[in-house]
Amino acid sequence: MDEVYRRRSCHKGFAQSRVVSEDDIRAILKAGMNAPSAENSQPWEFLVLEDRGALVKLGNIHEWTNACASASHVVILLAEPDEGGIQDINMGICAENIMLEATHLGIGSLIMGIHPGDDQAQETIKMMFAIPDSYTAYTMIALGYPAEAQEPNNRWIESKVHRGQF
Ligand SMILES: Cc1cc2nc3c(=O)[nH]c(=O)nc-3n(C[C@H](O)[C@H](O)[C@H](O)COP(=O)(O)O)c2cc1C
Repeated sequence: MDEVYRRRSCHKGFAQSRVVSEDDIRAILKAGMNAPSAENSQPWEFLVLEDRGALVKLGNIHEWTNACASASHVVILLAEPDEGGIQDINMGICAENIMLEATHLGIGSLIMGIHPGDDQAQETIKMMFAIPDSYTAYTMIALGYPAEAQEPNNRWIESKVHRGQF
C-alpha cells in the first residue's frame, strides 16, 4: 500500500488558497471511524475546524503547531481517557487511518502532539472550543494541500526485526 510510504508530515504548511472539499473531509473522517478499537469501543469524537481565525489561534498554541495557520482544516481527536492507556492506542490508530485516507485523496496532513499529558494545551483547547471536561484531546491533525512536495519515505532497518527471540 503505497500511501504508507507517501504520507509525509507537512511541516512547511499548506497552500492556503486550496480548500479540502466537504466530500473529502467526510471520507477522511469515515476512515478514522473505521479504525479498530479495543472491544470495538469506538471512543472517538472529531472536532472539525475550518474557521481561519481558529486555525491561526491553534497555530499559536506551540511553536510546533504553526502549520495549523495555513491548513484548510484541523481535526482534533477527542475521547474520554481510560486508566490503562489502551485509549492511546485506539486514538493513534484512528489518527493513522485519517492520514492514510488523506494521502490516498492527494491531501497532505500533519499530526501534532497535543497529547493527554499536556495540561496547558488541553486547557487552552477545551476553553477555545467548549469541549466537555470529561474529554481529552489526544492529538490534532492539520489537513490541506501541501505547500511543498515531499519524497516518499523508506525507513526499513533490518536490525530492528527480531525473530524468535529479541
Ligand atoms: C504523536 C506524534 C506527535 C507529533 N507532533 C508533532 C508536532 O507537534 N509538530 C510537528 O510539526 N510534527 C509532529 N509530528 C510529526 C513528526 O515530526 C513526523 O511524523 C516525523 O518527523 C516523521 O516524518 P514523516 O511524518 O514525514 O514521516 C508528530 C508525530 C507524531 C506521531
